[in-house]
Amino acid sequence: MTLRGRAVLITGASRGLGEALAREVGGRGARVVLVARDGAAVEAVAQDIRAHGGEAWSIAADVADKDAVHRVTGLATALAGPIDVLVHNASTLGPVPLSLLLDTDCEDLERAFAVNVVGPFRWTKVLAGSMALRGGGLVVHVSSDAAVEAYPTWGAYGASKAALDHLTRIWAAELEGTGVRFLGVDPGEMDTRMHAEAMPDADRSKLARPADVARAVADRIERAGESQSGARVALSASAEPSGLAVAS
Ligand SMILES: NC(=O)c1ccc[n+]([C@@H]2O[C@H](COP(=O)([O-])OP(=O)(O)OC[C@H]3O[C@@H](n4cnc5c(N)ncnc54)[C@H](OP(=O)(O)O)[C@@H]3O)[C@@H](O)[C@H]2O)c1
Repeated sequence: MTLRGRAVLITGASRGLGEALAREVGGRGARVVLVARDGAAVEAVAQDIRAHGGEAWSIAADVADKDAVHRVTGLATALAGPIDVLVHNASTLGPVPLSLLLDTDCEDLERAFAVNVVGPFRWTKVLAGSMALRGGGLVVHVSSDAAVEAYPTWGAYGASKAALDHLTRIWAAELEGTGVRFLGVDPGEMDTRMHAEAMPDADRSKLARPADVARAVADRIERAGESQSGARVALSASAEPSGLAVAS
């Protein structure tokens, strides 16, 4: 599937990977709708994509706000047309510094699940039916190695990403044959605000640049038809000149 002419909705697109991916798919000719809570920041990115000849719109919303979902998806569809690709990229770590589970408030666990799992679930529920009626569409879940590895202090975030991974597989199984596909992507460690908040002492020179990861994610989106729906792809920073190694 080429991204040219496709309507792509990306959450968490005001900075980091989401911003880079919006710029990448906008540059490949997609009509892109960018969502984040900070309306000014996300509109600045959309404006810059337009200034470079792309088609982009921004919507300010919290993905965990259940009252916003119909407004946002309806507006996005009115602006860009029926959504072909939905990228669930927005995410929260919870309070930083990260805490051991014994020190994690239940409300913080709830918030991690609200943003990282329930929000994406709700948005997919609203958009996947229309994708199925049109016979095609792709939903991308941005995951993390914390979904697989039991890193101490990453409990709320890691458990939410593990749940998101499993949703990827179950959505794929249930919508098999409809043309609606699902893809999980672990982007690997990137030089973003989220990484800096979680690991302020990390050596930033060892982290992947969001723009490089965004290129790899956009390639994966364009080649999604080649892999099984529900697959999880891990991208990891590498010393190779290409910048990224890929493991499926
Ligand atoms: N950075 C890494 O090393 C790393 C590693 C593995 C996986 N990941 C995953 O990669 C994705 C992108 O991470 P990143 O590092 O680019 O993060 P980031 O730099 O912190 O950017 C997060 C984006 O999500 C938005 N956002 C956060 N909470 C939101 C909410 N409730 N509703 C709507 N938008 C929200 C933020 O904008 P507002 O604050 O304005 O809402 C921002 O645009 C995430 O899913 C993350 O879990 C990152």
